[in-house]
Formats: sequence, structure tokens, C-alpha cells
Amino acid sequence: MCGIVGYTGGNPASSILVSGLRRLEYRGYDSAGLATLGENGLELRKRAGRVRVLEEALEANPARGTCGISHTRWATHGPATDANAHPHLGGNARAVAVVHNGVIENYAALRSELTAQGYAFASQTDTEVIAHLIARELGEGDDLYEAVQRSLPYLEGTYGLAVVSPRCPGQVIGARFGSPLVVGLGEDEHLLASDALAIAPHTANVAYLQDGEVVRLTPGKFEIRHQEHGPITPRIDRLDWKPDAVELGGHAHYMLKEIREQPDTVMDACRGRIRRAEGTAIFGGLNMSPRQLRRVRRVVFAACGTSWHAALVGEYLIERLAHLPVEVEYASEFRYRNAPLDDRTLVFVLSQSGETADTLGALREAKRQGHPTLAIVNTVGSTIAREADGGIYLHCGPEVGVASTKAFTAQVTVMTLLALYLGRLRHLSFTDGLAVADALAEVPSALTSVLATEPAIEAAAHRIASARSALFMGRDLHFPVALEGALKLKEISYIHAEGYPTAEMKHGPIALVDSETPCIFVAPRGSLHGKTLGNVEEVKARHGMIISVGTEGDESLASLSDVFLPIPDLPEVVQPLVAVVPLQLLAYHVARIRGCDIDKPRNLAKSVTVE
Ligand code: F6R
Repeated sequence: MCGIVGYTGGNPASSILVSGLRRLEYRGYDSAGLATLGENGLELRKRAGRVRVLEEALEANPARGTCGISHTRWATHGPATDANAHPHLGGNARAVAVVHNGVIENYAALRSELTAQGYAFASQTDTEVIAHLIARELGEGDDLYEAVQRSLPYLEGTYGLAVVSPRCPGQVIGARFGSPLVVGLGEDEHLLASDALAIAPHTANVAYLQDGEVVRLTPGKFEIRHQEHGPITPRIDRLDWKPDAVELGGHAHYMLKEIREQPDTVMDACRGRIRRAEGTAIFGGLNMSPRQLRRVRRVVFAACGTSWHAALVGEYLIERLAHLPVEVEYASEFRYRNAPLDDRTLVFVLSQSGETADTLGALREAKRQGHPTLAIVNTVGSTIAREADGGIYLHCGPEVGVASTKAFTAQVTVMTLLALYLGRLRHLSFTDGLAVADALAEVPSALTSVLATEPAIEAAAHRIASARSALFMGRDLHFPVALEGALKLKEISYIHAEGYPTAEMKHGPIALVDSETPCIFVAPRGSLHGKTLGNVEEVKARHGMIISVGTEGDESLASLSDVFLPIPDLPEVVQPLVAVVPLQLLAYHVARIRGCDIDKPRNLAKSVTVE
């Protein structure tokens, strides 16, 4: 949420900062700004709107200098205006410029105190108090690094900060508490960013900051201090992304690119994790022995949004294959509830970004209670990945589209492997285990054939693009898929959509059924198929518009449907991985037809790092 980029080196900062912001724009896109340190001191440009509006302002009035900071914003305090855009200036003589991710909870008290001391505020943001605090601590001096460190204890809340001052040319100071920051190590240049995506074009060598750490970057050097423990020797990591991982590569949108990557996603999530000879899966990073895992009597998953839906698929799979009770919790609820957990409960959190504030809160709460806490995460080096006792990476590469697609598929793949593993530690037979492994091996080619049906899905999208509301229904493993389909449609096309277990429809939602309301059934052939057909009949009897995702050749479903979207015949346990794809493409094309901004839907941002 919000993007930060900082640069110091030998090249013009402005273009590096802006291209970095473009890569981070999916994290927030209400306004954008930068501050550079040039021969004439601090140059500030900021605009409400997208990064391209800032670029236009820079074309008209370039910002000079080889050192600077920049920001793209997802508004928390104060609307998206030029004044509220970051950077914010501190001191009444433009002594410092600050960009900030996170929320300062005691900003109102600090603002009153600073106002009383004569500092003038130009925005409604919480960030501006940080700028004035640092300016106050800097005084007439020139040690910005020290001034930032002296200011931080006043702040309550979360922050990822980047700071420059014309008194300290060539220096960028960063500080992290609860909001990620990573340093990029180039040749005679250093970068700072809230997400390694902005750094990747410049260098693969990075150092992730930890909470409580403050960094000083100059072109030739970087140094890190922990607020309590003093100087830190940083660990240098390497980004191992495929070179085209963050390029559009000819696709119209990142969402479409990521939908189309899903055959690889499943293969990458399975790679090295299937032991055919033993009919099971293995994981390298759980840090728990089979003996410890066999003692587990209950699993709790905590997650948000799409990750929560993937966890729900996991619930069905683990109950089915391992006969273990599973509960799926909204991370935001779990962290503040007093949920009873005993010493045989295993807590997992799921997160694509590894930075979601609520999910991180749930992880910390479970750890505080002394429970072994594992994470299923995509982003290597993210806070959740680092703080969990062990975990499983998704390996699906950076996900840029705000609407999550390939991360869902990767999470569900991992859930299937996990259910297989936990099942084989219990009573799942070798033959049944092998059948699950073999079923997973069929998925990539099944996904490729579903992707080839995109024109038919696009035609279906034309039929529903002017709907005001849509219902998504599925039973058993397909109930979470229905929820995910509804979430995709609502978040990018702004059509109201709800997901229900199919049979729940007659307990209320059926009142909404009319010829204008698409009813989308996720109904591949399986154990409850006959019952689902009965529910589809009930909608048809009320003249509902029926769109179904079903098994190729299923004439009974096809004949009831206004639009039938086929998927290949697959074993039930892997059907969710494939059935979700027509729904992702449907949402994508509806949003496109409606002219929506698919990769940057209104009010949303990737990676929700505030509560
Ligand atoms: C929906 C979507 C969100 C995220 C949610 C959790 O398309 O992307 O619902 O799934 O914000 O994010 P992560 O998985 O990063 O914790």
C-alpha cells in the first residue's frame, strides 16, 4: 500500500524515481510526487492522480539532481489532493522532505504540539508531523541520520520512511517499522524502495530492512543501525526473478498476463515437492518433523481476501484427505479474538504479499501465544515469511495485477500438496496419495485448454457486462471458487456480486433471481453433481440467466445453461484449480467491456499494509 522509491548515485534521480513509481503504482495510485536535491536545493513536484500526471508536471518543470525520494499514495488521512500528496516538507524553511507508508496513530497529538511550537501544516496527512519532527530534531545541524533516529521514538503506529535534506546532499535516510523497505545495492549508487520490484531493473542485490532499523544511503556506501541494538551487518539477498517477470510482455494487462501464466504457476508450485515413489508431497521449509506434524489435531488458517478463499479450499481438502479439523479465520478477526488454541493446534497464515497488516497481526498473535506458526507466502524475504517459524513459498513470481489470480492458483496447489502430505502422515493410502499427485500433474495441460476457450468466455462477458448484480454458486470444493469468482467480478468491474454455497440459494438469495441477474454455477461433475443440477433447475424455473462452468460433454448441465463454459474432466480434488480460470477471465472481460481500469481498480491497492 503506497510505494516508496529513493535514489542516490551518479544519474539523474528524477527519471529513476519515476520509473520506479510506475512499477509500484499498483500499490497505490491516488497521487504521486518526488523531491530531488539539485544545485538549487530541494526541488519538489507532486500531483493528485496517476504517476503520468506527475510525469507531465516534470516535463514542464524538470527536477534536477542525482539524489531524491518519491512516493505513490493510497490515501488514508485526507483525500487525494496535490497538498496531501507526498513528499511532505518539514521545518518552516524546507529543511527536510519525507515520504511515508503506514499510519501514525498519535499524529493528532503530535500535530497540536508541533503547531504550538510554530510549525505550519500544509496538508491533512499524518505524514507531515514526521517531517516537522525530523526538522525539529535536525535543528540547525547537518546530521540527518541522527535527526531521524531521534524523531522515531515520538511516533506510534507504522512507518516505512524515506527522507532527504538539502543540508545533507547525496544522502537518503530510510526507516522501517511495520512497513517494508528494501535497499538496492548498485555500482556507485544505492536505491531504497518499499518493494523490490522498483529496484529489480537496477540491481539484483538487495538488503531487506527489519523493524526498528534505520539506513543511510550515499552513492558509495550504506549503513544500517537498529534503534536499540546499534550497528547492523546486513544480509545481502539476490532477487532471482525471471527477467520478464514484471514486464507486460505484449499482454493488455498484468491481470491477463498473470491469468495466462497459470499452467506454469501450478508446475512451479509443485516443483520438487512430489514424491511419487511414496505417493506423497514434501516441503523443505516447514521446520517441523513428521512426528511433530502427526501430533497436530487441528489446523487454523488465517488470511484475507483471495488468500482467505484459497485457505477455504484447503479446509475442504485437508478434511477430505487428512481427516483433520480445519478452521479458516479472517486474519483481521482472529488477531483480536480470544480464539482458543491448544498445543495441538497448528496455525498457518496465507499471504501473497507477505506484508498484509491483518495477516501479520494474526501471525504475531499466534506466536505470542506460543503456537508453532507457519506461513504460505509468495514474496521471498517479506515480513510474514521472515517472522513465521517455517513455511511454504508459492514460487509464482511477482503478482502485479491488483486482482489476485495466479497467487490463488499457487495457494490452492500448495493446499492440495499440504492435504496430501498431512493425509499420508495419517491414514491416506499410497494408492490414494498417488492418485492426488497424478491428478495435480494433469492440471497444467487442463489449464492450457481452458485458456484456449477465452473467446467463448469473452462472448459470455458481453452478455453480462451490463448486469447490476450477479450470484456465484458452488458446492463443496467449489463454494470457495464461487466466492473467488464473485470477488474478482466485484473488485474490477464494480458489479455487485455475491458467492454462496449452491444449496443456500433457496434460503434467501433466490429472491434476487430474475432474467437480468446472471447466476453463475461452478458445477464440474462430482459427487454432488445431481444435487447441483436440481438447484440449477430451480433458477431456470424462475427465468434466471444461467452461466455454468462444467465438465466438457456434460449435456445435462449444458442444456440448462444460457452459457456453458467447459473445463476438462479432472478428479474432484484438483477441479478448483481449473474451474476458477473461466471466472477470472469472465471478470477480466466484463471489466474491459465496461472500460474499467483493470490493473488499478478504484479504491484498491495491492498489499494492504494498514489495518
Ligand atoms: C483480491 C485481492 C485481495 C488480497 C488480500 C490479501 O483480488 O488481491 O483480496 O487477496 O488483500 O492479500 P495477501 O494475499 O497479499 O495477504
